[in-house]
Amino acid sequence: MNTDLSNYRKSYEKQELLESNINDNPMELFQKWFHEVDTHYKTGETNAMTISTIGLDGYPKSRVVLLKKYTYEGFIFYTNYESEKGKAILSNPNVCLSFFWHEAERQIIIKGKAEKIAPNLSDGYFESRPRGSQLGALVSKQSEVIASREVLENNLKALEHEFEGKDIPRPAFWGGFIVKPVEIEFWQGRPNRLHDRIRYQLDSDFNWQINRLSP
Ligand SMILES: Cc1cc2nc3c(=O)[nH]c(=O)nc-3n(C[C@H](O)[C@H](O)[C@H](O)COP(=O)(O)O)c2cc1C
Repeated sequence: MNTDLSNYRKSYEKQELLESNINDNPMELFQKWFHEVDTHYKTGETNAMTISTIGLDGYPKSRVVLLKKYTYEGFIFYTNYESEKGKAILSNPNVCLSFFWHEAERQIIIKGKAEKIAPNLSDGYFESRPRGSQLGALVSKQSEVIASREVLENNLKALEHEFEGKDIPRPAFWGGFIVKPVEIEFWQGRPNRLHDRIRYQLDSDFNWQINRLSP
């Protein structure tokens, strides 16, 4: 196979990111960008983000998860704590999150430390999920090899039967992680590949240092 993609080329012209127009706190700029993308550009899932972890095998691995909440403290998503990513995070909490919103020609890259959120917060979110998603979380030993799809569906049926008419408790192996950022880079595509890159880094006094990076 020899597939040439060298003619794939796009000029980025929609927006700019200037120092005169940014916040001191990157979470506020994140909120501004998220809101703009969510309301003005039809992205589908604005909250879909890639999380990269360093695995127990020493390799980085990236996959998409959904951002479910963000605060000044960080970014929260939910998963199976015993999944490949769950085990990776528990052995090395350093992770990278990234968003690519191509309609807005924007990318955000976040380095941070992930930790489990308090169990009562995971309980609250789990209770708010539709019953089907609750059962799905319960039935899936995420990242483990299974014999067939049929096994999964049979296990689901058995659980539906077991919990008929009852509340479904959150399994201890499922819950939220919060990623507390130490660095956030905002990337805005610009013409002639002279993109805007503004990087916030947390210094030892917990103040955000802001720099422009060469594209
Ligand atoms: C749009 C999208 C949203 C997803 N959201 C989640 C999520 O919120 N939590 C999750 O555990 N997996 C989510 N997944 C599945 C993950 O990408 C991944 O397959 C799964 O978490 C297992 O990853 P691991 O084996 O590396 O731990 C999502 C996938 C896509 C494409």
